[in-house]
Amino acid sequence: MQKFTYYQQELKDLTKQDMLRACRCVDSAQGPVVRMADGSEKVLFCSNNYLGLAGDERVRQAAIDAIERYGVGAAAARLVSGTMRPHAELEEAMAAWLGKEAALYLPSGWAANQALLSTLPQKGDLVMLDKMDHASIIDPAKVSMADFHTYRKGQTERLEGYLSGAAGQKFVVTESVFSMDGDRADLKELVRLRNAYDAILVVDEAHSIGCFGATAAGLCEEEGMLADVDIVVAPLGKAFGASGGIVAGPKVLIDYLVNKARPFIYTTATPPAIPAAALKALEIIQSEPERRKQLTEKAAYLRNALKGMGLDTKDSRSQIIPVILGTPQRAVEVSHKLYEQGYLVVAIRPPTVPPGTARLRISMQADHTTEQIDGLIAALKAALVGMPA
Ligand SMILES: Cc1ncc(COP(=O)(O)O)c(C=O)c1O
Repeated sequence: MQKFTYYQQELKDLTKQDMLRACRCVDSAQGPVVRMADGSEKVLFCSNNYLGLAGDERVRQAAIDAIERYGVGAAAARLVSGTMRPHAELEEAMAAWLGKEAALYLPSGWAANQALLSTLPQKGDLVMLDKMDHASIIDPAKVSMADFHTYRKGQTERLEGYLSGAAGQKFVVTESVFSMDGDRADLKELVRLRNAYDAILVVDEAHSIGCFGATAAGLCEEEGMLADVDIVVAPLGKAFGASGGIVAGPKVLIDYLVNKARPFIYTTATPPAIPAAALKALEIIQSEPERRKQLTEKAAYLRNALKGMGLDTKDSRSQIIPVILGTPQRAVEVSHKLYEQGYLVVAIRPPTVPPGTARLRISMQADHTTEQIDGLIAALKAALVGMPA
């Protein structure tokens, strides 16, 4: 057998099943319209740049100013000499905003969940995860020494069964707005269980931070639950248009992570221009509530139109609107047809989503125009003509 035969065969199999993935290269700043590497322009409907801040002039300038002042690389891990003023200021600002004692900034949302869930749960503890939780939540729970089980939103009895039988520390981890379905966790019920069983409740606000709540602190704030959530995870590569992930919670847990979390300790600190950009984004998010209002209104407009076409948008209640197409073939074909008409909406297939639910995951941005949204609706109608159900 040749050295690479196994991998070649696997890729061939993926190709046969319409499951092969490849990166598409963008050659412009992120925005509602992007230029692709071949020079064509596409209206973007699959980015997490929900508030349009990734290319915002003020956010760019904050990064440029920080590069002028601090250079590019941090050149050391956070515990060595890599903690620079923007890291520290961002942590302080995020903890205050989220109403938590302390916060820790990690290089990505992925690293934030890895750090948290591979470090806090110990042998004999119980971790309960929603089946639709992101891979960055599921994977570290699998490798931790704790027992872990899954439930799905609404399966209160299952959740309660495990919580009532557990002897060690109990963790319940959920996303607030689920990344693939755009639906919302039942936070009220989770807080009730957290209180009844003295569990540590962790909420990943990746797709709600900046988009929901009176001060845009997320869905927990919007639903009046922020104080009842022990730990908030806030990835900053989405609505913030920056990068990195915040873990905010009790000081004792943050200090523990600083001392024990390998994804924090053994990596070079994020370039300081990135937390500096995130700080500027935070300022804009707090001072320009019209951005999230527009986001919500535009998402409702598109969702209603898609539902009116008889499409399955699941229980979307956010700016993430899935259009369920079933097989990978169907999802890929519709995505290709949209691309040809000038719209970039990638097909999402298993294992990212459950088998039989391959889809387009349409995501709205506050800076999409009505013309762009109507254009997408028309393009989708055209793409679906003559397609077998
Ligand atoms: C719910 C959730 N948590 C965490 C992450 C990871 O964040 P990052 O992209 O910053 O690594 C994602 C990314 O898609 C996500 O959807």
